[in-house]
Amino acid sequence: MKPHEIRLESAARDVGRASESSVGETWTIQRVILWTSDYFKKKGIDSPRLTAELLLAHALSCDRVRLYTDFDRPLNKDELAAFRSLVERKGAGEPVHYLLGRREFFGRSFKVDARVLVPRPETELVAEAALEKLGPDSDQPILELCTGSGCLGLTLVAERPSARLVAVDLSAAALDVARENAAALGLVPRVELLEGDLFAPVAGRTFTLLVANPPYVATGVIPTLKPEVQREPQLALDGGADGLAVLRRIVLGAPSALVSGGWLVLEIGEGQGAAVLDLFAQAGLSEGSIRQDLARLERIALARRP
Ligand SMILES: C[S@@+](CC[C@H](N)C(=O)[O-])C[C@H]1O[C@@H](n2cnc3c(N)ncnc32)[C@H](O)[C@@H]1O
Repeated sequence: MKPHEIRLESAARDVGRASESSVGETWTIQRVILWTSDYFKKKGIDSPRLTAELLLAHALSCDRVRLYTDFDRPLNKDELAAFRSLVERKGAGEPVHYLLGRREFFGRSFKVDARVLVPRPETELVAEAALEKLGPDSDQPILELCTGSGCLGLTLVAERPSARLVAVDLSAAALDVARENAAALGLVPRVELLEGDLFAPVAGRTFTLLVANPPYVATGVIPTLKPEVQREPQLALDGGADGLAVLRRIVLGAPSALVSGGWLVLEIGEGQGAAVLDLFAQAGLSEGSIRQDLARLERIALARRP
């Protein structure tokens, strides 16, 4: 029988037997990685080998390098059962970073789970653009709308030790995750987390920088996204009929929330650049520009309050 023909559900039993009988039946780290990579590949999961290794390292509480130095180590029954559960959940469409419980962003580790969007590498470019506008010694208050896990706003205050952040999200559950991340990064004294609809919790206050990665996927497109993306909160994805519903409200509200000369830095979706530049003009913002991400897709929109 080839490895991929063996159901993983029987693997724990196999290992139990193997430890009593022949070494040939043993589920070593190498054999488990090969079996799982093959299984994920057949399921159409992205980066099957990497995903298998990340989940196995998580189940064994070690780093990925250790898997390679211990290739021939057999898994015991408990390890195999823990890994099998992760493989089943991944096979059923859960995002790998929900299973790991963490995601790296801008060199820091953030807690993530089903309450928040998984931070994306392209959002690191939004952080870079915002840091450029903040300057190296900024002690000015920053507003982040749609904070989710807090990865974007918390990165800005982590990178600018004198800066302060006010971060807003409509989801109390997401804010609980952001709060944990702020605490883990030692940023609580410089961070205010507020629950509410966009500008409502900060009415009457002004900021030198407004940053946001809002939901910008058109409602009709959501059912066509990869299954693991569809597992992320709808509130984090759904940008209304044209994908611009939340972006539009942020841009039009920005002039009241920014000081004169303050910057607005937004993440946007593919193909939304022209519409967002129009919104900047409608809002009376100046110096509007669009930047692309590494895949050459329109991703960052910047504008300034005159
Ligand atoms: C795309 S996620 C971004 C999360 C995080 N900033 C990031 O970059 O990974 C959008 C977030 O906006 C929040 N959200 C959606 N509509 C909102 C609204 N009207 N007011 C405040 N937050 C909202 C969602 O709960 C979600 O956490």
